[in-house]
Amino acid sequence: MLTFFHFFLLSVSFSLPALALEQSPDTVIEQGQSTNLSCSKKKSTSTAMHWYRLPLGKDSRLVLIASAVQAGKATVEVDLRSHFKCSEIQGDKITLLIDHAFLNDSGMYYCAESETQ
Ligand SMILES: *[C@@H]1O[C@H](CO)[C@@H](O)[C@H](O)[C@H]1NC(C)=O
Ligand SMILES: *[C@@H]1O[C@H](CO)[C@@H](O)[C@H](O)[C@H]1NC(C)=O
Repeated sequence: MLTFFHFFLLSVSFSLPALALEQSPDTVIEQGQSTNLSCSKKKSTSTAMHWYRLPLGKDSRLVLIASAVQAGKATVEVDLRSHFKCSEIQGDKITLLIDHAFLNDSGMYYCAESETQ
């Protein structure tokens, strides 16, 4: 039996106008596979971009995964560095690589932007 898990990708922006960020479409991969999630800030001049995950489950909370500042390096949260990688902001775009995903990586992945880190 195959175990599938789902990444439901939604765009969320912390700044107005809402939906200024464009994310890659919903993705479903199998355990152990890898995927890149991308997000572009088309109409925005914000200086930092972030990835959050809302794990599946009733009492889940948004968890910060990675942040990048314009013209700086991206930082992945320490406990996730083994299989998450985040690009720098390239042009208006940031990419999150999930490498050899675990089942518990399932959830909704949100891209966000802010003026400071
Ligand atoms: C993710 O993007 C990186 C950098 O462009 C690329 O090397 C890698 O093959 C991509 N992985 C997948 C699973 O698409
Ligand atoms: C997710 O699953 C992996 C592999 O089973 C495990 O190593 C890791 O600790 C789990 N992470 C969390 C947050 O439970």
